[in-house]
Amino acid sequence: MSLLNAALSVRENAYVPYSRFKVGAAIRARSGTVYQGCNVENVAYPQGTCAEAGAIAAMIAGGDTEIIEVFVVADAPAPCPPCGGCRQKLAEFAGADVPVTMATTDGQTLTMTMAQLLPGAFSPDHMSRA
Ligand code: THU
Repeated sequence: MSLLNAALSVRENAYVPYSRFKVGAAIRARSGTVYQGCNVENVAYPQGTCAEAGAIAAMIAGGDTEIIEVFVVADAPAPCPPCGGCRQKLAEFAGADVPVTMATTDGQTLTMTMAQLLPGAFSPDHMSRA
């Protein structure tokens, strides 16, 4: 399945009674397996989770740990970028050169690398003095 179709189809399942803003995310892991996630909101608003976080959770549950490509789609006037927290979550498993394609449901796309989305990312190196 293409990442575009994977993200579009899972987006349909988004649970968004509060924002009404459905987001779908698809991740291709190094193994080739595609993992999907959608946003899941909660009446206690901060407890909601983003589509990217759902896709990452599915990937880890599926036994993969390395992301090689990301696709995010929403019905928005311009391609929808991952939020700041999701950039850090993606950076845990995606290298600097991994492409992240942001898309709208009407076909606009914008592709950026992880390094462009999260310059100066906090990494394990920052915790080591060695
Ligand atoms: N949202 C995502 O799922 N991913 C993003 O990258 C941006 C925002 C969700 C969170 C919330 O359910 C809704 O979009 C509005 O912020």
